[in-house]
Amino acid sequence: MSTTVSTVHAAIAAAVRAPSPFNTQPWEFAVHPDRVDVWLDQSRVLAVTDPEAHEAHIACGAAVYTLRLALAVSGQRSELVVLPDRTRPDLVASVVLDGKYRPSPHERTLAEAVWRRHTNRRPFLDRPVPSPAKTALMRAAAGEGAQLHLMDEPADVGAVADLIRRADHVLGQDLAHVTEVRGWTGGRDRLDGVSVAAAGRPSTADTVIVLRELGSRATAVPFEQLPLLGVLTTVGDTHSDHLAAGQALQAVLLEACAAGLAVSPLSQPIEVPATRDALSVLVGAAAHLVLRFGYGHPGTVTPRRPVGEVLR
Ligand SMILES: Cc1cc2nc3c(=O)[nH]c(=O)nc-3n(C[C@H](O)[C@H](O)[C@H](O)COP(=O)(O)O)c2cc1C
Repeated sequence: MSTTVSTVHAAIAAAVRAPSPFNTQPWEFAVHPDRVDVWLDQSRVLAVTDPEAHEAHIACGAAVYTLRLALAVSGQRSELVVLPDRTRPDLVASVVLDGKYRPSPHERTLAEAVWRRHTNRRPFLDRPVPSPAKTALMRAAAGEGAQLHLMDEPADVGAVADLIRRADHVLGQDLAHVTEVRGWTGGRDRLDGVSVAAAGRPSTADTVIVLRELGSRATAVPFEQLPLLGVLTTVGDTHSDHLAAGQALQAVLLEACAAGLAVSPLSQPIEVPATRDALSVLVGAAAHLVLRFGYGHPGTVTPRRPVGEVLR
């Protein structure tokens, strides 16, 4: 292998910047002379909220995308083999090192965004996202085998907002879910989970989109009246589709970050079977996540476990 171990470790340091539900970071990496294997870490899958590891596979897909992007900008071509071993389903991907690569300026821009990107749960400005930026977001998803259905018409946004509100209500009644969320939020000096500082602002009665209650602090600043929403979908609904959705998610988030857009993912409607089905019917494909896009005051990046802790 001509690629040095330090290059691979640097790429893994980028990969762990990927988003994951409640910052659970449900991944592990095994470095081999010719490849990097990405494993699902079952001990970090949300047993109550994500019993089929749907969201954990999305997170692993986002990490895989980031790993390959970081390798690419360091001049390393890679081939992706998804779920390479049927007998070991937690081995979600092999990233096979495959010669030299000349990255494009756009890939460099996206790779730089890895270090700035973060979830922004604060109110956004009532400023529309221009068409070229919307096209770039949809293209980013399509490039990874997924679709991003963007909505900014009041009726469409209202229909998704209703499903989010319904799902949020159902989840709020589920004590096991609420307890699980508490275990991953509000912590101090942790390298995982969502801290109070990252929790954003709580929704109020007139907030169009009900953001997840993560122990956030109130603000006088109102939420935007008509957010731009995106529903991330794939045609199929297997773990390999969830991994594709995760790659597309990170491609979209980095594209958004590079364009100066803030984003908050919303997975409440995905976590309740009835609302997930309704959302999938609404957009005509298997729904994996809702994204809220806009312009706003930036937050800060959240902590991650160091590379040494995620090596197998
Ligand atoms: C599959 C998935 C589902 C998520 N669901 C939500 C959500 O419902 N609400 C929310 O505020 N953030 C959600 N997030 C964002 C994560 O909480 C966030 O990525 C994580 O805390 C790490 O923070 P960062 O994105 O700022 O790096 C989700 C992320 C992923 C990948």
